[in-house]
Amino acid sequence: MALTQDDLKRAVAQAAIAYVPNDCIVGVGTGSTANFFIDELARIKNRIRGAVASSEASTKRLQGHGIEVLSLNEAGELPVYVDGADEITKHMHMLKGGGGALTREKIVAAASKKFICVCDASKLVDVLGKFPLPVEVIPMARSYVARELVKLGGQPQLREGFTTDNGNVILDVHNLQIMNPVELETTLNQLPGVVTNGLFARRGADVLLLGTPDGVKTLTA
Ligand code: 5RP
Repeated sequence: MALTQDDLKRAVAQAAIAYVPNDCIVGVGTGSTANFFIDELARIKNRIRGAVASSEASTKRLQGHGIEVLSLNEAGELPVYVDGADEITKHMHMLKGGGGALTREKIVAAASKKFICVCDASKLVDVLGKFPLPVEVIPMARSYVARELVKLGGQPQLREGFTTDNGNVILDVHNLQIMNPVELETTLNQLPGVVTNGLFARRGADVLLLGTPDGVKTLTA
C-alpha cells in the first residue's frame, strides 16, 4: 500500500528522536509534523527533563502526554529544536508560519544549538515563496506594513479571524519568488510593526529529515 503524507510525517518524527540527548530539555515546534514528534516524545518521556514549546497548541499536546513544559527563560539554551516547515531548500533555508506560530518558533530555534527540520518530501523546493509568506504584525501597523509589502512586490492578505499567541495579526504574502531569503528576511525584520517574518534563512536548519517513499533521507547544512 502506498505511504500517505501522514506516514511520511510519522517516519521523520520517529527519526528525530535519535537527535534528542538523554536528560535534556527539548525545543518543540508546532504543526502536524511537530504533533507526530510530540507523540513520539511521549514514548521516551522518562529519559528527558521536559520541553519548551513554540505555541500554546504544542504546550497542550505535550502536557496531555504528561511531559513537563518549561518556559524558555527557566530552561536556558536548548541542545535541540525539532520543527516542521512549509517549504525548505537544499540550502536549509525555510519558510515557516503556516500555523501562525512563527515568532515563538524563531525564538526557541534561536535559543537552540541544533535545528532539526522534519518534513515530508513535498516541502523540499528550489525557490521559496510558492507558499504564502506569513508576517506577524502588531495590529495597529497592519495597513502600513501591508503597503510596504506591496512595494516589495508581494500581495499581502490578512489571515482572517486569526490572532497569534502573542495577540498579533498575520499577513500572508502571496506571489513572492524569494531568490535571496537572507536579504528578504533582514529587510522585513526592519519594517516597524513587523514582529517576525516566516523566513528562517539567517538561522536555517542544521539537519533536514525528509520523509520520502524510499525512506527518511538525512541532509545536513
Ligand atoms: C507553524 C509552522 C509549521 O512548522 C509549518 O506550518 C509546517 O506545518 P505542518 O507540519 O503541519 O506541515 O511553521 O507555524
